[in-house]
Amino acid sequence: MNKIHILDENTANKIAAGEVVERPSSIVKELVENSIDALSHHIEVEIADGGISFIRITDDGSGMSPEDAKLAILRHATSKIRLAEDLSTIHSLGFRGEALPSIAAVSRFSLTTRLHDNEPLATYIEVAGGTTTDIREAGGNVGTTIVVKDLFFNTPARKKFLKTAATEASHINDILIKLALSYPNVAFKFINNKRLVLSTPGNNQLQDTLTSLYGQKVAPDILPISYDNTVDSIGISGYLGKPTLLKSNRQWQTIIVNSRVINSRSIAKALDNAYHSLLPKSGYPLAVLNITVNTDTIDVNVHPQKSEIKFSDEQKIFRAVYKAVTNVLSAAHAPSQLAASAELKNINNYHPTPNYNTSHKGQESLYASPPVHRVLSWQEEPLPLTTARIAMEQEDVIFQDTPPAADIMGCDQQEPQFTLQPLGQVDDCYIISRGHDGLYIIDQHAAHERILYDKMSQHTERIPAQQLLVPIFMDCDATEITIITDYQDIFYNLGFSLDLVGPSAMRISELPSDIPLSEAENFIRQILEFIQNMHNPTAQELRHSCLQIAACRAAIKAGEALNMRQMQALINELCNTNLPYTCPHGRPAMIRFSPHDLDKMFKRTGF
Ligand SMILES: Nc1ncnc2c1ncn2[C@@H]1O[C@H](COP(=O)(O)OP(=O)(O)O)[C@@H](O)[C@H]1O
Ligand SMILES: [Mg+2]
Repeated sequence: MNKIHILDENTANKIAAGEVVERPSSIVKELVENSIDALSHHIEVEIADGGISFIRITDDGSGMSPEDAKLAILRHATSKIRLAEDLSTIHSLGFRGEALPSIAAVSRFSLTTRLHDNEPLATYIEVAGGTTTDIREAGGNVGTTIVVKDLFFNTPARKKFLKTAATEASHINDILIKLALSYPNVAFKFINNKRLVLSTPGNNQLQDTLTSLYGQKVAPDILPISYDNTVDSIGISGYLGKPTLLKSNRQWQTIIVNSRVINSRSIAKALDNAYHSLLPKSGYPLAVLNITVNTDTIDVNVHPQKSEIKFSDEQKIFRAVYKAVTNVLSAAHAPSQLAASAELKNINNYHPTPNYNTSHKGQESLYASPPVHRVLSWQEEPLPLTTARIAMEQEDVIFQDTPPAADIMGCDQQEPQFTLQPLGQVDDCYIISRGHDGLYIIDQHAAHERILYDKMSQHTERIPAQQLLVPIFMDCDATEITIITDYQDIFYNLGFSLDLVGPSAMRISELPSDIPLSEAENFIRQILEFIQNMHNPTAQELRHSCLQIAACRAAIKAGEALNMRQMQALINELCNTNLPYTCPHGRPAMIRFSPHDLDKMFKRTGF
C-alpha cells in the first residue's frame, strides 16, 4: 500500500511556501530530516567541494516502495500529513512534500531506496534539472541513498550566490552538529572531501554526543540542565557551558523544540540575560537546550526552511528558559566551578618550569611567611565595605562604632557562605587568602565591583542617593544635554539628581551613595558615552550596564593598600554575593588553588 499521497490544492496552498533550496546546507538539512523521519539509526553524509558538486546521504531507515519512490519526487507528495490541520499535532520534521522535487529541479539527482528485506530489489530513480531520466530496479541495501550532483547547474544565477567550498562545507558541518545533538539516538557520520570529520555514537546519550562533536575537552565545563513546569507543560533538558567556555558567535548554541532544531531570538535572548553578568562583553556560551511543549502551542508552518516556529505564548517560553538557565548557573558557583577552573588552567599553562637547582635557602626567602596580623574571627561582625573605604582615607579610625554600610544599601548582613582568611596583599591589588579547601587569590577591584553590583541591583527602584552639601556643576554639550533629558528616569533611578542650569551646564545635587564625589563627573560621562554607542538599548540592558559602570567607578582601585581588617571585610562581603567568582564584566574576581593544584604546580604529584 502506498504511504505517500499528493496533498489537495487547498491544503498545499495553506503550507508556507518559499525557497527550500538555498545552498548545499539546506539540501543536507532536508535530506537528513527525511532520514530521521524514516526512523534511521545510522545516517551518513558525504560531500565534495562544499556540497556544490557532490552530496550523498545514506540511511538505514524505512525505505520506500517502488510506487512511493515515484511519488516522492512530485510536488506536494508526502506521507506525513493529509490536511493542514494535521500540522497542530505533527511529530515529524517534514510536512510539505517539497524537498525532493525542489532539490531534483536544480541538480542531477538520484534516489535508491529499498523498503525491507522481503523486497529483493531497490528502486533507482534519476532526475536531471527536474526531468526524470531513468527509473529502474537496482541492487541496494534496505534504506535510502540520495545523491545530489552539480547543484544549480541549470540555474547559473543562483550558483553565483554560493560562497567558497570551505564556507559551504562549514555551514553543512554546523547544521549536522545541531541535528546530531537533537537526535542522540542516531549515529551520524560526516565525510568531507574523503575525510571523516564528524561521528556520533548514536547511543542515546546527549553528553556522549556532545563530546564526540565538541571534543572531550569540554566535558568538565558543561553542566546538565533539567527543568519541568507541569503547569505550563514546558520541559527543558540538555547542557550548558560554564561561562568560561565561549565562542565569538552563537555557533555553540543549539535550540531544539519538540525535537526540531530552530532559531529563536527570544530563547537566545533568555540565554543572554541569564548569563548576563557572568560573561565578558564579547562571547557566547555553549548551550544545548532541548525544550518540549504541547504541539498545539506552536506553529511549525511559518518558515520555508522550517527553521523558525511561532509560539502561542513567547513570554512563557522566555521565562521558562531564563529560569531554567539561572537555576543551573547559580547552583554552579561553588569554588571548583566556573571561572576558577578555567583560569587555573591558563595559569598552569603559563607556569614556568621550576628550577630544581634552587637551594632551600633561596626558596625560604622567597616564600617567607607573611607578617602576622590580627585576623577577625568569624563571630565578629564583618567590616562593611564603605567603612573600608573611609578607613583607607582616614588611617586611624575606630571601626566598631561605624554603622554598617550594608544598612545604607538595605542589604542584610548574612553569614558568609564560605569563610576565607586573608594572609596578605600583593602588588596593592591581589589579596592572598586561605580557605578550608585551598589558597585563594582575589582581585580587590573586581571583588569590590561584584559586591557593589550585587547590592545595587537589589534595588529595583531607586538606588540610595547621597545629598551633596555643595552641588557639582558640569559643562555639557548639546548631545549630552539631549541624552540626559531623554534618559532622566535612568539617571534618577541610579541615584542622581540632575538639573539643567543654563544652555550648557548641569547641576548635580544628589549622587548614588557609593560613588565618591571625585568620580561623579566621570561616571556621568561614561554613561553618556555608553548610551550614545548603544543601539536601542532595552531598559534592562541600560540598567545592567549603568550598574556595571557604577560598580566599577565606586570600587576600590587596584593600587590601593588595604590593611588586614579591610581585606577581611572585602572577602566577607564577596563571599556573601551570589557569584563571587566573577566581576559584573565577567572577569575573574577570585581564583582558587586547591591543595591538589598546588601539589601539581610543585610537581609533587604526577597529575
Ligand atoms: N530517506 C527517506 N526514507 C524514507 N522515505 C523518504 C525518505 N526521504 C523521503 N521520503 C518519503 O518521501 C516523501 C517526500 O519527501 P519530502 O519531499 O522531503 O517531503 P516531506 O518530508 O515534507 O514529506 C516523504 O513524505 C517520505 O514519505
Ligand atoms: Mg522532507
